[in-house]
Amino acid sequence: KNLGLIFDLDGVIVDTAKFHFLAWKKAAKEVGFELTEELNEKLKGVSRVDSLNKILGWAGATVSEEKFNEMATNKNADYLTYVDKMTADDILPGVEAFIRKAKSKGYPIALGSASKNAPKILKHVGIYDLFDAIVDGNSVSKAKPDPEVFVIAAQKLNVPVANCVVFEDSEAGVEAANNTHMLSIGLGSEDVLSEADHVFPDFTKITLEFIEQQANKK
Ligand code: BG6
Ligand code: MG
Repeated sequence: KNLGLIFDLDGVIVDTAKFHFLAWKKAAKEVGFELTEELNEKLKGVSRVDSLNKILGWAGATVSEEKFNEMATNKNADYLTYVDKMTADDILPGVEAFIRKAKSKGYPIALGSASKNAPKILKHVGIYDLFDAIVDGNSVSKAKPDPEVFVIAAQKLNVPVANCVVFEDSEAGVEAANNTHMLSIGLGSEDVLSEADHVFPDFTKITLEFIEQQANKK
């Protein structure tokens, strides 16, 4: 099969999931809510607006539209202070080597992220040019677990949806991949990502040969 490889950004390529968590934790405090790591799993892969809606729901808080926008803007400003300090060291172990190997074998590579900051972050850590297509929070209308982001990525790569492999660290993202019958590879904990076709702690444990075998079987 001519495979297309689609990578989520936050928590898969770069170690930014922890920065989103810190920034949301601070925002939640403002409405008197203590965001735990466990609940934070429900925010991973979820758009900025949807994330804030979830937090307000958990907090049982209602805010004006103005306050909502202010909270979202502040959260992003907070998040970007962490992003500004990032370097190539914040690229997660093994992922860049994996992508380069896949490219050398001719597989097209896409980004499929909910983040509006995706291009900025990829440029910041110097790997923007690795991608043949970038689909991010600026170009999708339906958030994960809707598969729109991955379906558009497949179209941009000119690869059939059924030939695509998705790498995800979030429940919502794994669900999105499964919803469109792409091979879903979870990065993180088995407990959180039990719906994924396969789960690995990080890219140092994944070989391209394994992915090729699994994708060709599917
Ligand atoms: C996802 C993250 O990749 O992007 C979420 O997992 C985040 O935590 C979402 O809320 C939107 O990101 P941004 O950068 O546009 O606020
Ligand atoms: Mg993610």
